Amino acid sequence: MNALCRIKTDCSRWSPAPIETLLAKYGKNVPRYTSYPTAPHFSAAIGADAYRSWLAELDPKSTVSLYLHIPFCERLCSYCGCHTTVVHSRSPISSYVDHLLREIALVTQAIGARLPVGSIHFGGGTPNILAPRDLEIVFTALRDGFEISAEAEIAAELDPRLLTQEWIDAAASKGLNRASLGVQDVDPTVQKAINRHQPWRATAWAADALRKAGVASINLDLMYGLPHQTVASIRQTIDCALQAEPERIALFGYAHVPWMKPHQRLIDEAALPDEVERYRQQATAAALLIESGYVRVGLDHFARPADPLAQALAAGAVRRNFQGYAIDDAGALLGFGASAIGRLPSGYVQNSAKTPEWRAAIAAGEFATTRGVELTHDDRLRGEIIERLMCDLTVDLGEVATRRGAAAEIFSEALAELGEFVEDGLAALDGDRLTITETGRPFVRVACAAFDRYFQRSRARHSAAV
Ligand SMILES: C[S@@+](CC[C@H](N)C(=O)[O-])C[C@H]1O[C@@H](n2cnc3c(N)ncnc32)[C@H](O)[C@@H]1O
Ligand code: SF4
Repeated sequence: MNALCRIKTDCSRWSPAPIETLLAKYGKNVPRYTSYPTAPHFSAAIGADAYRSWLAELDPKSTVSLYLHIPFCERLCSYCGCHTTVVHSRSPISSYVDHLLREIALVTQAIGARLPVGSIHFGGGTPNILAPRDLEIVFTALRDGFEISAEAEIAAELDPRLLTQEWIDAAASKGLNRASLGVQDVDPTVQKAINRHQPWRATAWAADALRKAGVASINLDLMYGLPHQTVASIRQTIDCALQAEPERIALFGYAHVPWMKPHQRLIDEAALPDEVERYRQQATAAALLIESGYVRVGLDHFARPADPLAQALAAGAVRRNFQGYAIDDAGALLGFGASAIGRLPSGYVQNSAKTPEWRAAIAAGEFATTRGVELTHDDRLRGEIIERLMCDLTVDLGEVATRRGAAAEIFSEALAELGEFVEDGLAALDGDRLTITETGRPFVRVACAAFDRYFQRSRARHSAAV
């Protein structure tokens, strides 16, 4: 297919360039590829009408996944990149839940059938800010509108600082079986700098109480690249995290995007680790987790070998979605709440990220879809390449192109763009198979960007690659 086929890492005399050189060359700003096209390339041309007709086209027998966004927190962490706001009373939350119920009814009416559901994910913000009664009524609405299988995965992103036994019992009684706890870093200096005071004992209690209530799978979210973070603080954080024996760990690089998230200006940029230190932090954390028996999944997830995510990796069945990495083979993902993104067979839709705007649309009996994209044949082809690279770090370009009826030459430009990346030993090309090497793993998004037609055209501002 091309003339770049040199597997540098096969040569015993070859060694990669120093990490400083690689970072200077490839530490550029690239998307996180939780979708393709990525959200900044969604267009206002896709709105409520498109969503309504795409919902009506869903096959009544095909399983769907549900995502519910809860955009509220008690305090704002200064690094936060999520769609959330701070609330000091219950009334905005109750009103939001009321509108969620209406949105669920609008969506199920437009579908016209009770679709089977294989997975439900509550994200945020902080889903455990919902009162137990809110959970009760949301689950009643979901069970009225959808056929939720007994084996469905029911997951929630939880803030251990707010978690109570009452909340855990209420959620467990509704079938919660997977929880993701925000941790970030255990060092008090780092916690002060990010406005997130969280003694380790609060996290340990949360993990233990969830397990005792039957929530069998626990994930911990950790971060590197935060102000005042060091390799030593990361080691200490990993030591604590391992004590909780989580099934999964997500290790996110802090995305510092103050032009998009103005409250990140509260972060003292002088206290941020530079890109070499960021690299060392993630490399240290990854090495410790792998030494402790975790399997590395894609860019930033780790799973115990017996965990379904690790098993799916071996089977090439890991998927990349807005929650990171998952095993979700549902035909569609339906998003509810402000900023929620849905994926339908025809394309992506996103609700207004402004909660009052979302609420007004729903109150008027209308969908709050403000952006989206109808997938072209080329989007699907490139999306599959990018997803396989993000999940498996390897893809047979020729096989995907042929299966999707495209000429193999379609990737010539991308491969030309990756010439130096391959020369530098970050990827290898063997025939039509492109494989990211272990040295290249932290730079996988750079390889994906070469296949991203929208990125090549716009080169928009994103967070650092490592
Ligand atoms: C919705 S929060 C998790 C639940 C809960 N709100 C909490 O913080 O405990 C999702 C996760 O996103 C990650 N995150 C938030 N902002 C980020 C940023 N700017 N860069 C990288 N990861 C970020 C954090 O690891 C956080 O735990
Ligand atoms: S990280 Fe979690 S708790 Fe902190 S502001 Fe963001 S969503 Fe809220």
